[in-house]
Amino acid sequence: MKQFLLVLSISLNLISHSYGQSFNNLWIPDTLSGTNFNLRILDTFAQIVNTGNQTITGGINGKFWGPTIFVNKGDMIQMNVQNKLKDSVTIHWHGMHLPAVMDGGPHQIIPPNTIWKPYWTIKNEAATYWYHPHLHEMAMEQITKGIGGLLIVRDAKERSLALPRKYGVDDIPLILTDRDFNSSNQFSTVPYGDSMLTNMTLRAKYDVPAQLVRFRVLNAAIERSFNIGFSDGRTFYVITSDGGLLNEPIAKTKYLLHAGERIEILVNFTNQNGSNVDLKAYNSLLGNNIPGGENFVNGPFANFLGKKDFNILRINVASPTANPVTTIPNNLAANTYLKASDAQLTRQLTISDSMGFPNILGPNAFLINRKPFKLNYNEYNVPLNNTEIWQITSSSIFGHPFHIHDVEFNILSINGVAPDATQAGWKDVVFVPGRTGNTNSVVKFIAKFDDFADPLHPFMYHCHIALHEDEGMMGQFIVTNTTATQNLSPLNNDFNIYPNPAKDRIFIRFNTPNQSAYYIKVIDSSGRTKLMLPQPKLENGIDIHSLKTGIYHLLLTNQNNMITGSKTFIKTE
Ligand code: C2O
Ligand code: CU
Ligand code: CU
Repeated sequence: MKQFLLVLSISLNLISHSYGQSFNNLWIPDTLSGTNFNLRILDTFAQIVNTGNQTITGGINGKFWGPTIFVNKGDMIQMNVQNKLKDSVTIHWHGMHLPAVMDGGPHQIIPPNTIWKPYWTIKNEAATYWYHPHLHEMAMEQITKGIGGLLIVRDAKERSLALPRKYGVDDIPLILTDRDFNSSNQFSTVPYGDSMLTNMTLRAKYDVPAQLVRFRVLNAAIERSFNIGFSDGRTFYVITSDGGLLNEPIAKTKYLLHAGERIEILVNFTNQNGSNVDLKAYNSLLGNNIPGGENFVNGPFANFLGKKDFNILRINVASPTANPVTTIPNNLAANTYLKASDAQLTRQLTISDSMGFPNILGPNAFLINRKPFKLNYNEYNVPLNNTEIWQITSSSIFGHPFHIHDVEFNILSINGVAPDATQAGWKDVVFVPGRTGNTNSVVKFIAKFDDFADPLHPFMYHCHIALHEDEGMMGQFIVTNTTATQNLSPLNNDFNIYPNPAKDRIFIRFNTPNQSAYYIKVIDSSGRTKLMLPQPKLENGIDIHSLKTGIYHLLLTNQNNMITGSKTFIKTE
C-alpha cells in the first residue's frame, strides 16, 4: 500500500494529512481526579479525518485515547478498569512504582466484559506518566487503535512552585503520535504513519495565552522519535524528565523525545499576543539509526514523515489570563540521585540484531539477552531493596528506547559519557544508541528496587517501540523477598462466602485466623471472568451489584501459600 502511494504523489497528498489543509483545534482530553477512577475501554469510532468516513478506534470513556487522570502523591487510588472490547487487553501504568500484580503488564490479562480492580498508593514524584495496553503481541495493534491516557501526579513540592497548572489553558498536554490512514480513513497497524497526530488531532492548532506556558509532552508513537523545537528557534526550558522535576530548568532549542518518554517544558509567550509559531519535529536532522530518521522509500517502513521536518502544533498567541505566570523559576527541586557506589551489583544485558529470527515484518528482529520474550520465562530475581546497575551493551545497528517497569532510575552513562542535564533526573526510558561501526554502545543506569516483592508476578523491561516489544524484545524480572516469613497454616484455604445468595455485596470469612487473599477472580457459569481483584481488601466485602443474576464461582488465591480454592455463590435481583 505504502510503496504504491509513494509512487502516486496525487494519492499521497490525499492520504498524508499533514500539509496543505486548514488547521484543526487541538483536542484536549477530559480529566478525572479524586481517588476512585472508572475506566471503560471501548471499541468506538471518531471523525479524525475532516472528510469521509469516521475511523474505527479504541477509546477509554470516549471516542479515542482516554481521560487525563490527576492523582496526588500519598493517596491510595482505586482503578476500576472495565474491558468492553471484543478482545482481551491489559492496561499498564507506565512509570508507576507499584506492586507487580497491579502493574498491568502482559500477565494481568483482562478478558472481555471483565472488570479489573487494581489499587495502589501513589509513591511517584509529581510528573507526567501514562497508561496504555500491554498485551503480548497485541501492544502495537491496541495502541494503534488509540487506547491510552495521561496520568499526572501532583505533590507538595511541585505545588509550592510558581508553575503554570491550569489544564488546557497554560498547562497543555501534547500526546505525539503518527498514523497511517487507508483510503477509507481507517488506521493501518504499521510502525510508522504518514500523518502526524497531536492529541489525536490532524494538523493541530491551539491558542495559548501571552505568558509562560507549560507543555506536557508524551511520545506515544509506535516507533517514531520526535526532535522537537520551535519554528523561530526560540529557547524552551525542560523542567521534568520521565519521573520527576529536574533540579533546575534546562534551556534547550531542540529535544529528542523517544517512544514512551515524557518531558514537561516551559515556553515564554509574554508580550507575543497576536503572533504565531509552530512546534515542529526536526526529524531531518536525525541519523538513520534513530527511529524516524530513516528514509525508506519502499517496504513496510516507508512513510511520508521519515527524515523530514513536520508540524506538531500551530500555536496562536492570544491575550494573557488573569494572574499569569511570567517568570521561570530558578530552582525546582533538590533531588538526591543514586550513585554508582550505592550499587550491590551490576547486571549485564545485551541488545542484538537477530538476522533471520522470524517476525511479522521481515528478518530484522531485535533481541534482549539474545532470546525472544516468553511469558513463562523469568530472567532475573532481584532481591528486595537491592540497588543495581543495569549495563546494556548493544550491538544493534539501530537505537532502541529501553524501558523498565517498577522503578525510576538514574542514567549513569551513555557510551561512557554522563547524561545531558535534561536526562540527569528520574527516568524510566533510556535511549540505547545503535552501534557505531564495529563499536557497541553501552548504557548504564542505576535503580533501587524497593517496596514490592512478589513471588508470582514479574515486572517487564523492554524496548518501547511497540513493534519490537511485540516481536519479543522484552524480558521480565521478579523482585524477591527472601527474609519474609511465610505463614503456612494447613487449613488456610478454607473460606466461606456470606450472605449467599447476595444482591450487592459479598463478604469472605476465613475459617482459620490471619488469612488474606492474594487474588480473587469471579467467574460466571459459562467460564467467563467477570471480576479481577488483585490483593483485595476484604473488610469492605466485594461489590457484585454490576453482575447479572446467576451462579458464580469465586476463585481465591491465598496470600500465605498461593493455593487457590473456589466457592460458589448466587447473585440475586
Ligand atoms: Cu509503557 Cu512496559 O510500557
Ligand atoms: Cu511501563
Ligand atoms: Cu527496539
